Amino acid sequence: MPATVVVGAQWGDEGKGKITDILAESAAAVVRYQGGSNAGHTVVVNGEEFKLHLIPSGILHEDTLCIMAAGTIIDPVCLRDEIAGLRERGVRCDNLRVSVNAHVIMPYHRVLDGLQEEARGKSSIGTTLRGIGPTYTDKTARMPRSIRMADLQDESHLRELIQDQLAQKNAVMEQLFGHEPLDPDDVFDEVAATLDVVRPHIADVRGAIREALAGGGLVLEGAQGTFLDLDYGTYPYVTSSHPVAGGACLGTGVGPTEIDEVVAVVKAYTTRVGSGAFPTELQDEIGDGLRERGAEYGTTTGRPRRCGWLDGVALRTAAEINGATSIAITKLDVLDELDTLRIATAYRIDGEEHTRMPENLDRLAEVTAVFEELPGWRKSLSELRAWDELPDEARAYVDRMSELAGCPIHCVSVGPSRRQTIMA
Ligand code: IMP
Repeated sequence: MPATVVVGAQWGDEGKGKITDILAESAAAVVRYQGGSNAGHTVVVNGEEFKLHLIPSGILHEDTLCIMAAGTIIDPVCLRDEIAGLRERGVRCDNLRVSVNAHVIMPYHRVLDGLQEEARGKSSIGTTLRGIGPTYTDKTARMPRSIRMADLQDESHLRELIQDQLAQKNAVMEQLFGHEPLDPDDVFDEVAATLDVVRPHIADVRGAIREALAGGGLVLEGAQGTFLDLDYGTYPYVTSSHPVAGGACLGTGVGPTEIDEVVAVVKAYTTRVGSGAFPTELQDEIGDGLRERGAEYGTTTGRPRRCGWLDGVALRTAAEINGATSIAITKLDVLDELDTLRIATAYRIDGEEHTRMPENLDRLAEVTAVFEELPGWRKSLSELRAWDELPDEARAYVDRMSELAGCPIHCVSVGPSRRQTIMA
């Protein structure tokens, strides 16, 4: 520390929640830097499973401050329900702060997300329908000005902003999509009903971030993954924010020189939810097996995830874009039963082999993955806790991952719980 970024090196769902939870133990604060309730981070503690969509994965450590920074977007309904769910299970959430500058996902953003997806027809992105795109669009459009968490402090001001917003949103919904207009009072009431729970957490978080940097250190938690980034992902099949490590600086106000570690989290195979190219996808029984053994169903939407072999070209590219200082490998145990494993080490494009992804990721749909085969270990890894207990074949597999990423291994996860982790 002072600041460690936890970033997804694939298309999201890499297991960032578990790695963040582990790092949170020795940090003063965990700060989420982008995204909203589209995330789905699972943390398992003492056999109890916690699924978090919005709240940082450090929340289970009472002494660690958990901050939703300015770069995130907050659905107050989801925040209220998530806080309530955690409180029912004995997690007090007194350590949770939400930046005054984080923008608010309003009920009309969720409606618009659905309408826009429908209008895209066959080219739909497969969004989580949580209002992510429409909220970030309003944030950057500034016309009329989008609603921020600070605006939830004053109800009459909030009512006015909702009226301004709906004058425009209703026109779009009616004229473009033939949807009935939303009633400003209904929208206000839905949000107002969350305020008793949400308001105490709204804060100026700048001081807390500075204090954590000065003592104890920060974990900057990304959501989604590198190839869902608005600029570096498979556009337009991406999310509307910047999951890459650079997004951590934008989203939190921590300067680039203050970050000393970037842990890129990578699953031992590849998954993707929603549409878009996927060069190592397996549409066969091996892919189905990975989905079942890895429980690859969306935490947020329940959708089955597309599964495939590890894409080493994507891993190398992600390590570069994020300036990764190490990789945290997750779900290695899911590969336990396979005789032979494959890793894509190059893409063939127009007869030529490339070891880095093309910048124009439209070309990803045309590439043929070039695979290398490695032997499986055919042994359960889930009870292993020490590096030298790993079978030689598993060791060779993770070493190859490290070689492709061009950086050392931080840890290897062999099961969902905190203790099922082998530190390198
Ligand atoms: P949105 O972020 O809801 O707009 O969805 C845009 C794309 O990102 C879709 O393909 C989603 O499936 C994907 N996506 C969004 N959040 C996550 C996530 O946390 N894990 C994996 N995929 C995600």
